[in-house]
Amino acid sequence: MPFTIAIDGPAASGKGTIARALASHFGFRHLDTGLLYRAVGAKGGDPVAAAQNLGPDDLTRDDLRTAEAGQAASRVAAIPEVRAALTEFQRRFARSEPGAVLDGRDIGTVICPQAEVKLYVTASDEVRAKRRAIELDADVDRILTELRERDARDAARDVAPMRPAADAVLLDTSTLSIEQAIALAIEHAKRAG
Ligand code: C5P
Repeated sequence: MPFTIAIDGPAASGKGTIARALASHFGFRHLDTGLLYRAVGAKGGDPVAAAQNLGPDDLTRDDLRTAEAGQAASRVAAIPEVRAALTEFQRRFARSEPGAVLDGRDIGTVICPQAEVKLYVTASDEVRAKRRAIELDADVDRILTELRERDARDAARDVAPMRPAADAVLLDTSTLSIEQAIALAIEHAKRAG
């Protein structure tokens, strides 16, 4: 039976880094589901058609990590038909042998409610903005505004809003080093497995 680790949380909380580290530690595949929504937003045109026809080339564009791509992703992610078009791919990925780690906003709640391990990774707004500003070499105040706007939209939408699953373990990384956060996540996954 494949083993699924679901990691959700707001932007720049550390969930992507933790997801990659868990995948590498356990020898699992990793899917950054935010990249799917970023690719749909960046493709332009009708977002539903873009989601239905997403190909490998769309996911390797080098403009997907920008703040603008994040905002575009968050807008198309509120469209139910866009989410529906991406669901099956994510669920199939989650059943990869010997296991898979998926990170996003609705993995523990909608995509993989049966996941063996669920983590909800958070950090204070200020810490997240600082991390992302360093990563993108951008102005921290502008990033803080952008993150808050995006989180508010992601949490308020009707379909698959960002929220912790009832059975998710919360991991606040505000005062943790990345090594500490990864160690806690591995410990938790081992206990659950
Ligand atoms: O994680 P990342 O910041 O790359 O996600 C970009 C956007 O994609 C999020 O702000 C959110 O609107 C959307 N998203 C989503 N569901 C997921 C992953 C990302 O709605 N599972």
